[in-house]
Amino acid sequence: MTGIAVIGTGYWGKNHVRTYSELASEGVINSVKICDLDEKRACELGEAFNIEYLIDYKELIADPNIDAVSIVTPSSTHYQLAKEFMKAGKDVLVEKPMTMNSRESEQLVKIANDTNQILMVGHIFRHHPAVKELKHRIDQGEFGKIQLISSNRLSFGAPRKDMGVIYALGVHEVDMFCYLMDKEYPDSIHTTASYTLQPDIEETAMITMDFDGTKAYAFESWLMPAYGKQRDLVVVGSEKTAKIDYLKPQELQVFDIRIAEQDFDGKTAFSVENEGSYTIPIPYAEPLKEELRHFIQCINDRSRPISDGEIGLRAVRMAEAALESANNGRTFSF
Ligand SMILES: NC(=O)c1ccc[n+]([C@@H]2O[C@H](COP(=O)([O-])OP(=O)(O)OC[C@H]3O[C@@H](n4cnc5c(N)ncnc54)[C@H](O)[C@@H]3O)[C@@H](O)[C@H]2O)c1
Repeated sequence: MTGIAVIGTGYWGKNHVRTYSELASEGVINSVKICDLDEKRACELGEAFNIEYLIDYKELIADPNIDAVSIVTPSSTHYQLAKEFMKAGKDVLVEKPMTMNSRESEQLVKIANDTNQILMVGHIFRHHPAVKELKHRIDQGEFGKIQLISSNRLSFGAPRKDMGVIYALGVHEVDMFCYLMDKEYPDSIHTTASYTLQPDIEETAMITMDFDGTKAYAFESWLMPAYGKQRDLVVVGSEKTAKIDYLKPQELQVFDIRIAEQDFDGKTAFSVENEGSYTIPIPYAEPLKEELRHFIQCINDRSRPISDGEIGLRAVRMAEAALESANNGRTFSF
Protein backbone atom coordinates (compact mmCIF):
# COMPACT_ATOMS: atom_id res chain seq x y z
CA MET A 1 0.00 0.00 0.00
CA THR A 2 1.02 3.52 -0.72
CA GLY A 3 2.47 6.23 1.50
CA ILE A 4 1.88 9.75 0.19
CA ALA A 5 3.08 13.19 1.24
CA VAL A 6 1.66 16.58 0.32
CA ILE A 7 4.24 19.35 0.00
CA GLY A 8 2.68 22.79 0.28
CA THR A 9 -0.45 23.12 2.37
CA GLY A 10 -1.68 26.56 1.30
CA TYR A 11 -4.92 27.41 -0.49
CA TRP A 12 -4.91 24.39 -2.82
CA GLY A 13 -2.65 22.01 -0.90
CA LYS A 14 -5.25 21.83 1.89
CA ASN A 15 -7.62 20.18 -0.57
CA HIS A 16 -5.02 17.54 -1.46
CA VAL A 17 -4.54 16.85 2.27
CA ARG A 18 -8.27 16.53 2.95
CA THR A 19 -8.76 14.26 -0.06
CA TYR A 20 -5.81 11.96 0.70
CA SER A 21 -7.06 11.73 4.30
CA GLU A 22 -10.40 10.53 2.97
CA LEU A 23 -8.62 8.01 0.72
CA ALA A 24 -6.57 6.82 3.69
CA SER A 25 -9.76 6.26 5.75
CA GLU A 26 -11.21 4.34 2.80
CA GLY A 27 -8.10 2.14 2.80
CA VAL A 28 -7.01 3.26 -0.69
CA ILE A 29 -3.65 4.47 0.62
CA ASN A 30 -1.68 3.56 3.67
CA SER A 31 -0.55 6.86 5.12
CA VAL A 32 -0.39 10.62 4.53
CA LYS A 33 2.22 13.10 5.70
CA ILE A 34 2.34 16.82 5.08
CA CYS A 35 5.12 19.33 4.68
CA ASP A 36 5.11 23.12 4.59
CA LEU A 37 7.84 25.69 5.19
CA ASP A 38 5.26 27.56 7.22
CA GLU A 39 5.31 25.54 10.44
CA LYS A 40 2.18 27.11 11.91
CA ARG A 41 0.22 26.20 8.78
CA ALA A 42 1.60 22.64 8.69
CA CYS A 43 0.95 22.18 12.41
CA GLU A 44 -2.66 23.42 12.28
CA LEU A 45 -3.49 21.19 9.35
CA GLY A 46 -1.61 18.22 10.81
CA GLU A 47 -3.60 18.53 14.04
CA ALA A 48 -6.90 19.02 12.21
CA PHE A 49 -6.41 15.77 10.24
CA ASN A 50 -4.32 13.96 12.84
CA ILE A 51 -1.38 13.47 10.48
CA GLU A 52 2.35 13.88 10.85
CA TYR A 53 3.77 17.19 9.62
CA LEU A 54 7.26 18.35 8.63
CA ILE A 55 8.81 21.61 7.53
CA ASP A 56 11.79 20.21 5.61
CA TYR A 57 10.89 18.28 2.45
CA LYS A 58 14.34 16.64 2.40
CA GLU A 59 13.16 14.38 5.24
CA LEU A 60 10.53 13.00 2.85
CA ILE A 61 13.13 12.25 0.22
CA ALA A 62 14.89 10.00 2.71
CA ASP A 63 11.66 8.46 4.07
CA PRO A 64 11.25 4.83 2.85
CA ASN A 65 7.55 4.92 3.79
CA ILE A 66 6.86 7.66 1.25
CA ASP A 67 6.28 6.31 -2.26
CA ALA A 68 4.89 9.44 -3.89
CA VAL A 69 4.29 13.14 -3.37
CA SER A 70 1.81 15.81 -4.39
CA ILE A 71 3.72 19.03 -5.01
CA VAL A 72 1.36 21.92 -4.28
CA THR A 73 3.88 24.69 -3.70
CA PRO A 74 4.15 27.88 -5.81
CA SER A 75 4.76 26.93 -9.45
CA SER A 76 8.23 28.51 -9.55
CA THR A 77 9.37 25.78 -7.09
CA HIS A 78 7.84 22.79 -8.94
CA TYR A 79 10.85 22.04 -11.13
CA GLN A 80 13.39 21.70 -8.35
CA LEU A 81 11.10 19.69 -6.06
CA ALA A 82 9.78 17.35 -8.76
CA LYS A 83 13.31 16.72 -10.02
CA GLU A 84 14.65 15.85 -6.56
CA PHE A 85 11.77 13.51 -5.73
CA MET A 86 11.86 11.64 -9.04
CA LYS A 87 15.63 11.22 -8.83
CA ALA A 88 15.11 9.81 -5.33
CA GLY A 89 12.74 7.17 -6.76
CA LYS A 90 9.42 8.76 -5.74
CA ASP A 91 6.41 9.21 -8.01
CA VAL A 92 5.24 12.78 -8.43
CA LEU A 93 1.97 14.61 -8.93
CA VAL A 94 2.83 18.24 -9.59
CA GLU A 95 0.16 20.92 -9.65
CA LYS A 96 -0.53 23.00 -12.73
CA PRO A 97 1.12 24.93 -14.24
CA MET A 98 3.74 22.20 -14.23
CA THR A 99 6.53 24.83 -14.29
CA MET A 100 6.79 28.49 -15.19
CA ASN A 101 8.63 27.80 -18.47
CA SER A 102 8.66 25.02 -21.05
CA ARG A 103 12.40 24.35 -20.74
CA GLU A 104 11.90 23.15 -17.15
CA SER A 105 8.83 21.10 -18.11
CA GLU A 106 10.84 19.40 -20.87
CA GLN A 107 13.50 18.52 -18.32
CA LEU A 108 10.92 17.00 -15.96
CA VAL A 109 9.46 14.85 -18.74
CA LYS A 110 12.97 13.62 -19.52
CA ILE A 111 13.74 12.87 -15.87
CA ALA A 112 10.47 10.92 -15.54
CA ASN A 113 11.42 8.84 -18.61
CA ASP A 114 14.97 8.26 -17.40
CA THR A 115 13.97 7.31 -13.86
CA ASN A 116 10.76 5.40 -14.77
CA GLN A 117 8.87 7.43 -12.19
CA ILE A 118 5.22 8.41 -12.61
CA LEU A 119 4.91 12.10 -13.44
CA MET A 120 1.37 13.41 -13.36
CA VAL A 121 0.22 17.04 -13.62
CA GLY A 122 -2.82 18.44 -11.82
CA HIS A 123 -4.92 19.15 -14.90
CA ILE A 124 -7.99 18.52 -12.84
CA PHE A 125 -10.54 19.06 -15.61
CA ARG A 126 -9.32 15.93 -17.41
CA HIS A 127 -10.70 14.13 -14.33
CA HIS A 128 -13.98 16.09 -14.18
CA PRO A 129 -16.95 13.70 -14.60
CA ALA A 130 -19.03 16.06 -16.77
CA VAL A 131 -16.05 16.80 -19.03
CA LYS A 132 -15.34 13.07 -19.43
CA GLU A 133 -18.99 12.45 -20.35
CA LEU A 134 -18.92 15.32 -22.86
CA LYS A 135 -15.68 14.10 -24.43
CA HIS A 136 -17.14 10.61 -24.83
CA ARG A 137 -20.25 12.01 -26.54
CA ILE A 138 -18.21 14.30 -28.82
CA ASP A 139 -16.05 11.34 -29.86
CA GLN A 140 -19.21 9.32 -30.59
CA GLY A 141 -20.29 12.10 -33.00
CA GLU A 142 -23.38 13.15 -31.03
CA PHE A 143 -22.53 16.87 -31.30
CA GLY A 144 -21.54 16.83 -34.95
CA LYS A 145 -18.66 19.03 -36.08
CA ILE A 146 -17.43 21.36 -33.34
CA GLN A 147 -18.05 24.91 -34.59
CA LEU A 148 -17.23 27.04 -31.53
CA ILE A 149 -15.93 26.65 -27.96
CA SER A 150 -16.20 29.28 -25.28
CA SER A 151 -15.12 29.22 -21.65
CA ASN A 152 -15.40 31.77 -18.85
CA ARG A 153 -13.44 31.71 -15.61
CA LEU A 154 -14.45 34.90 -13.88
CA SER A 155 -14.25 36.09 -10.29
CA PHE A 156 -13.44 39.18 -8.25
CA GLY A 157 -10.58 39.06 -5.81
CA ALA A 158 -7.00 39.94 -5.02
CA PRO A 159 -4.79 38.87 -7.92
CA ARG A 160 -1.97 36.36 -7.37
CA LYS A 161 1.48 37.83 -7.07
CA ASP A 162 3.41 34.99 -8.72
CA MET A 163 1.51 34.68 -12.02
CA GLY A 164 -1.34 36.22 -13.96
CA VAL A 165 -4.57 34.65 -15.20
CA ILE A 166 -2.92 33.10 -18.27
CA TYR A 167 -0.72 30.73 -16.25
CA ALA A 168 -3.12 30.41 -13.29
CA LEU A 169 -6.40 29.89 -15.16
CA GLY A 170 -5.80 29.90 -18.92
CA VAL A 171 -3.55 26.87 -18.57
CA HIS A 172 -6.73 24.87 -17.80
CA GLU A 173 -8.52 26.12 -20.92
CA VAL A 174 -5.68 25.65 -23.41
CA ASP A 175 -5.46 22.03 -22.26
CA MET A 176 -9.25 21.52 -22.25
CA PHE A 177 -9.68 22.95 -25.76
CA CYS A 178 -7.00 20.62 -27.17
CA TYR A 179 -8.49 17.66 -25.30
CA LEU A 180 -11.99 18.33 -26.67
CA MET A 181 -10.70 18.98 -30.20
CA ASP A 182 -8.47 15.88 -30.05
CA LYS A 183 -5.35 17.86 -30.93
CA GLU A 184 -1.95 18.24 -29.30
CA TYR A 185 -1.86 21.96 -30.13
CA PRO A 186 -4.09 24.51 -31.85
CA ASP A 187 -2.95 25.96 -35.18
CA SER A 188 -2.52 29.32 -33.49
CA ILE A 189 -3.06 31.32 -30.30
CA HIS A 190 -3.81 35.01 -30.02
CA THR A 191 -4.25 36.75 -26.68
CA THR A 192 -5.13 40.18 -25.42
CA ALA A 193 -4.69 40.96 -21.73
CA SER A 194 -5.01 43.85 -19.32
CA TYR A 195 -2.62 44.82 -16.55
CA THR A 196 -4.76 47.14 -14.47
CA LEU A 197 -3.47 46.51 -10.94
CA GLN A 198 0.12 45.33 -11.41
CA PRO A 199 2.46 46.08 -14.33
CA ASP A 200 3.55 42.48 -14.98
CA ILE A 201 0.61 40.38 -13.74
CA GLU A 202 -2.33 40.33 -16.15
CA GLU A 203 -5.60 40.08 -14.26
CA THR A 204 -7.78 39.68 -17.36
CA ALA A 205 -7.11 37.85 -20.60
CA MET A 206 -8.96 36.72 -23.70
CA ILE A 207 -7.21 33.76 -25.27
CA THR A 208 -8.30 32.79 -28.78
CA MET A 209 -7.23 29.47 -30.23
CA ASP A 210 -7.78 28.37 -33.80
CA PHE A 211 -8.25 24.73 -34.75
CA ASP A 212 -8.47 24.54 -38.52
CA GLY A 213 -11.04 27.35 -38.58
CA THR A 214 -12.88 26.36 -35.39
CA LYS A 215 -12.32 29.09 -32.83
CA ALA A 216 -12.06 28.49 -29.06
CA TYR A 217 -12.27 31.49 -26.73
CA ALA A 218 -11.20 31.58 -23.09
CA PHE A 219 -12.14 34.62 -21.04
CA GLU A 220 -10.21 34.73 -17.76
CA SER A 221 -10.50 37.46 -15.14
CA TRP A 222 -9.98 38.23 -11.47
CA LEU A 223 -11.59 41.62 -12.04
CA MET A 224 -15.17 40.68 -12.80
CA PRO A 225 -17.55 41.17 -9.85
CA ALA A 226 -20.81 40.72 -11.79
CA TYR A 227 -21.18 36.91 -11.92
CA GLY A 228 -20.01 35.56 -8.55
CA LYS A 229 -17.60 32.74 -9.32
CA GLN A 230 -18.28 31.75 -12.92
CA ARG A 231 -16.51 28.75 -14.42
CA ASP A 232 -18.15 27.33 -17.47
CA LEU A 233 -17.62 25.76 -20.84
CA VAL A 234 -19.85 25.82 -23.92
CA VAL A 235 -19.19 23.59 -26.92
CA VAL A 236 -21.29 24.38 -29.99
CA GLY A 237 -21.57 21.53 -32.47
CA SER A 238 -23.29 21.34 -35.83
CA GLU A 239 -25.87 18.95 -34.28
CA LYS A 240 -26.08 19.89 -30.59
CA THR A 241 -24.54 22.24 -28.03
CA ALA A 242 -23.24 21.35 -24.56
CA LYS A 243 -22.73 23.45 -21.49
CA ILE A 244 -20.81 22.51 -18.36
CA ASP A 245 -20.83 24.48 -15.15
CA TYR A 246 -17.48 23.29 -13.78
CA LEU A 247 -18.81 23.77 -10.24
CA LYS A 248 -21.49 21.11 -10.95
CA PRO A 249 -19.59 17.94 -11.92
CA GLN A 250 -22.85 15.97 -11.78
CA GLU A 251 -24.52 17.77 -14.72
CA LEU A 252 -24.08 18.05 -18.45
CA GLN A 253 -26.53 20.38 -20.16
CA VAL A 254 -27.43 19.63 -23.75
CA PHE A 255 -29.19 21.97 -26.19
CA ASP A 256 -30.72 20.07 -29.07
CA ILE A 257 -30.47 23.05 -31.38
CA ARG A 258 -28.78 23.76 -34.69
CA ILE A 259 -28.68 26.10 -37.63
CA ALA A 260 -30.21 24.45 -40.68
CA GLU A 261 -29.12 25.51 -44.14
CA GLN A 262 -31.47 25.30 -47.11
CA ASP A 263 -31.04 26.12 -50.73
CA PHE A 264 -33.72 28.31 -52.33
CA ASP A 265 -33.17 28.95 -56.02
CA GLY A 266 -29.42 28.92 -55.55
CA LYS A 267 -29.52 31.12 -52.46
CA THR A 268 -28.68 29.79 -48.97
CA ALA A 269 -31.24 30.40 -46.23
CA PHE A 270 -30.51 29.76 -42.55
CA SER A 271 -33.07 28.76 -39.95
CA VAL A 272 -32.96 27.61 -36.34
CA GLU A 273 -34.04 24.05 -35.53
CA ASN A 274 -34.75 23.93 -31.80
CA GLU A 275 -35.77 20.64 -30.23
CA GLY A 276 -35.34 21.81 -26.64
CA SER A 277 -32.76 21.24 -23.95
CA TYR A 278 -32.17 18.69 -21.19
CA THR A 279 -29.71 17.85 -18.44
CA ILE A 280 -27.81 14.57 -18.38
CA PRO A 281 -27.29 13.54 -14.76
CA ILE A 282 -23.87 12.14 -13.94
CA PRO A 283 -23.05 10.25 -10.72
CA TYR A 284 -21.44 12.77 -8.37
CA ALA A 285 -17.69 12.52 -7.94
CA GLU A 286 -15.36 15.25 -6.74
CA PRO A 287 -12.87 16.05 -9.55
CA LEU A 288 -9.88 16.29 -7.19
CA LYS A 289 -10.73 12.95 -5.62
CA GLU A 290 -10.98 11.39 -9.08
CA GLU A 291 -7.60 12.91 -9.94
CA LEU A 292 -5.88 11.61 -6.81
CA ARG A 293 -7.47 8.17 -7.15
CA HIS A 294 -6.12 8.04 -10.70
CA PHE A 295 -2.65 9.02 -9.45
CA ILE A 296 -2.72 6.18 -6.92
CA GLN A 297 -3.89 3.73 -9.55
CA CYS A 298 -1.00 4.78 -11.82
CA ILE A 299 1.44 4.35 -8.92
CA ASN A 300 0.10 0.87 -8.21
CA ASP A 301 -0.07 -0.47 -11.77
CA ARG A 302 2.75 1.71 -13.25
CA SER A 303 0.41 3.00 -15.96
CA ARG A 304 0.67 6.35 -17.73
CA PRO A 305 -1.50 9.08 -16.18
CA ILE A 306 -4.17 10.65 -18.40
CA SER A 307 -2.72 14.04 -17.41
CA ASP A 308 0.95 13.08 -17.67
CA GLY A 309 4.11 15.17 -18.03
CA GLU A 310 3.60 15.54 -21.80
CA ILE A 311 0.14 17.04 -21.25
CA GLY A 312 1.60 19.39 -18.62
CA LEU A 313 4.45 20.36 -20.95
CA ARG A 314 2.10 21.14 -23.85
CA ALA A 315 -0.09 23.27 -21.57
CA VAL A 316 2.96 25.25 -20.42
CA ARG A 317 4.09 25.76 -24.04
CA MET A 318 0.61 27.07 -24.90
CA ALA A 319 0.48 29.33 -21.81
CA GLU A 320 3.92 30.64 -22.75
CA ALA A 321 2.70 31.36 -26.29
CA ALA A 322 -0.47 33.03 -24.97
CA LEU A 323 1.54 35.29 -22.69
CA GLU A 324 3.99 36.14 -25.45
CA SER A 325 1.08 37.01 -27.74
CA ALA A 326 -0.47 39.22 -25.02
CA ASN A 327 2.82 41.05 -24.64
CA ASN A 328 3.77 41.55 -28.29
CA GLY A 329 0.34 41.63 -29.95
CA ARG A 330 1.24 38.91 -32.46
CA THR A 331 -0.52 35.63 -33.20
CA PHE A 332 1.57 32.62 -32.23
CA SER A 333 1.50 29.70 -34.69
CA PHE A 334 2.28 26.11 -33.73
N1 LIG B 1 -5.55 22.46 -9.89
C1 LIG B 1 -6.10 23.59 -9.49
O1 LIG B 1 -7.27 23.83 -9.78
C2 LIG B 1 -5.30 24.57 -8.67
C3 LIG B 1 -5.98 25.54 -7.92
C4 LIG B 1 -5.22 26.43 -7.18
C5 LIG B 1 -3.84 26.36 -7.20
N2 LIG B 1 -3.22 25.41 -7.95
C6 LIG B 1 -1.74 25.33 -7.99
O2 LIG B 1 -1.28 24.86 -6.73
C7 LIG B 1 -0.01 25.43 -6.42
C8 LIG B 1 -0.08 26.13 -5.06
O3 LIG B 1 -0.99 27.19 -5.15
P1 LIG B 1 -1.65 27.80 -3.82
O4 LIG B 1 -2.66 28.79 -4.30
O5 LIG B 1 -2.12 26.71 -2.92
O6 LIG B 1 -0.41 28.57 -3.18
P2 LIG B 1 -0.22 29.03 -1.66
O7 LIG B 1 0.75 30.15 -1.71
O8 LIG B 1 -1.56 29.26 -1.01
O9 LIG B 1 0.44 27.77 -0.94
C9 LIG B 1 1.74 27.35 -1.23
C10 LIG B 1 2.32 26.70 0.04
O10 LIG B 1 3.57 26.09 -0.29
C11 LIG B 1 4.47 26.29 0.81
N3 LIG B 1 5.84 26.09 0.32
C12 LIG B 1 6.53 26.85 -0.56
N4 LIG B 1 7.74 26.31 -0.81
C13 LIG B 1 7.82 25.18 -0.05
C14 LIG B 1 8.82 24.17 0.14
N5 LIG B 1 9.99 24.22 -0.51
N6 LIG B 1 8.56 23.16 1.00
C15 LIG B 1 7.38 23.09 1.65
N7 LIG B 1 6.40 24.02 1.51
C16 LIG B 1 6.61 25.04 0.67
C17 LIG B 1 4.15 27.70 1.28
O11 LIG B 1 4.60 27.91 2.60
C18 LIG B 1 2.63 27.72 1.17
O12 LIG B 1 1.98 27.29 2.34
C19 LIG B 1 0.31 26.37 -7.58
O13 LIG B 1 1.11 25.69 -8.50
C20 LIG B 1 -1.05 26.66 -8.18
O14 LIG B 1 -0.99 27.03 -9.54
C21 LIG B 1 -3.92 24.50 -8.67
